[in-house]
Amino acid sequence: MSGPKWLNDAVFYEIYPQSFQDTNGDGIGDFEGIIERLDYIKNLGCNALWINPCYDSPFKDAGYDVRDYKSVAPRYGTNEDLYRLFDEAHRRSMHVFLDLVPGHTSEEHAWFRESGRAGHNEYSGRYIWSDLWIAGMQGHPYIAGECERNGTYMLNFFKCQPALNYGFGTVTAPWQDGLDDPEPHRTREAMKDVMRFWLSHGCDGFRVDMADSLVKDDDDSKSGTAEVWRDLRRVIDEEYPEAALVSEWSNPKQAVLGAHFNMDFYLDHPGKAYNTLVRDNETEGPDRSFFRKDAGGDIERFLPQFLSDYEAVKGHGHIAFITCNHDTPRMSRTLTERERKLAYAFLFTLPGVPFLYYGDEIGIPYFEDLPTKEGGYTRTGTRTPMQWNHERNLGFSTADAAKLYLPVDPSEDAATVEDAEADPDSLYHTVQDILQLRHAQDDLKADGEFAVVYAKKESCPFLYRRGSLLLGVNPSGSAVTVPWEELSQVPDQLAGRKSAEPLFCVGGGSAEAEGITLEAQSFMIVR
Ligand code: GLC
Ligand code: CA
Repeated sequence: MSGPKWLNDAVFYEIYPQSFQDTNGDGIGDFEGIIERLDYIKNLGCNALWINPCYDSPFKDAGYDVRDYKSVAPRYGTNEDLYRLFDEAHRRSMHVFLDLVPGHTSEEHAWFRESGRAGHNEYSGRYIWSDLWIAGMQGHPYIAGECERNGTYMLNFFKCQPALNYGFGTVTAPWQDGLDDPEPHRTREAMKDVMRFWLSHGCDGFRVDMADSLVKDDDDSKSGTAEVWRDLRRVIDEEYPEAALVSEWSNPKQAVLGAHFNMDFYLDHPGKAYNTLVRDNETEGPDRSFFRKDAGGDIERFLPQFLSDYEAVKGHGHIAFITCNHDTPRMSRTLTERERKLAYAFLFTLPGVPFLYYGDEIGIPYFEDLPTKEGGYTRTGTRTPMQWNHERNLGFSTADAAKLYLPVDPSEDAATVEDAEADPDSLYHTVQDILQLRHAQDDLKADGEFAVVYAKKESCPFLYRRGSLLLGVNPSGSAVTVPWEELSQVPDQLAGRKSAEPLFCVGGGSAEAEGITLEAQSFMIVR
């Protein structure tokens, strides 16, 4: 199930369409803007896109409240514009994922309006309803008092997002359906129809929102939800085998091995592997992200979970690493530019498929305390406009500043693409260089092997191997040398020579007779 061949060399760029590029001066990004920037994205080294939901919506959760699955939101353009975006991407050998939101719709979706009516109709069983207006829902969040129907309906997330009915893992009340009852099967067919619609128009797959949430009262391994996905993805396997799916699940064993996703995101859950690397700021005590210079970060907090997941899903699918996404603070909130250079070089040289969040390549800040926009709350600070140049609104839009979706960075020295391209030491160039190398070296691609060469608890550096390449990272503030005898799994050609010129370096390092040396805050690749 590791998917179509193109995934092996895929590097995704996530676009929050509201904030990427406005071309008609209304202050909000649009499809035309994405089309105009495809060459920029390709030149950076990303060859695939994930676009957050761009469907018709009342935007109470930034579009994750879908009102019509098959029509785009007019503010972004027309369906034809989106089809043209697919074509333009394909002409550049790029792929495009849309965001599939299968667990809930907007309360304004026509299915839900019908579902809330008193008499029985085609949509009565499309959502999860209890059978009495005054009944609770066994601990699940629900709403009463809004519809004609004598019952309460379950929520999947915000109040505006009623849960679609895929059934219950364990049925304990008469109003609940089992997985294989007719209504949950009709919901599946409706979602397949949505998938087919976009795939038939040129979409290359989906990022799947809350993919683990479909079946309610599922068992601990989410086997019911996994069964639903094995069925839904038949659309891909049987009709669009070049397409792929990535899940918002953050449990690669369940998502890839159980539910047959091609990839699963590692998300920043407190205490989990990914968080310990880059955003260890929500747990108790000080931030000990591995890449922070003075935090005493520990690769051993990352490795056990990563190795276990990696070994389990190898050959079946991929772990997808993100620099950030639209739900979480940008790394720039807590990591310096140098620390991010190391973090990106590391994430982009792990096995699996990396995702870069728009603007992270130039170090757009996380804006604290922005008033919430479209249900963003603290996520709003991560969703501000892309910063292109020093023209009006940093090149994002020609609208009056007051009309912008969100304000652009007001600082004098706001980072821009234009400045980053001109500065050979910029973060942008580190990203571009490492991605170029990744595309050029088969060993660095998604399927390439990974092995630990040197890892010590609470100490630096960390050394690892990808095929014939030896890679090292030293986030600490002092230079370190590791003698060859202390390394395991050294690529053969290097073990023989015991010296090499770096293929890629941030901050300086060398491979010489006495060992591998990594300067303070450095990253190096040798062969
Ligand atoms: C996912 C999305 C998030 C959204 C939620 C509800 O977590 O990434 O942005 O608010 O699901 O759809
Ligand atoms: Ca616009």
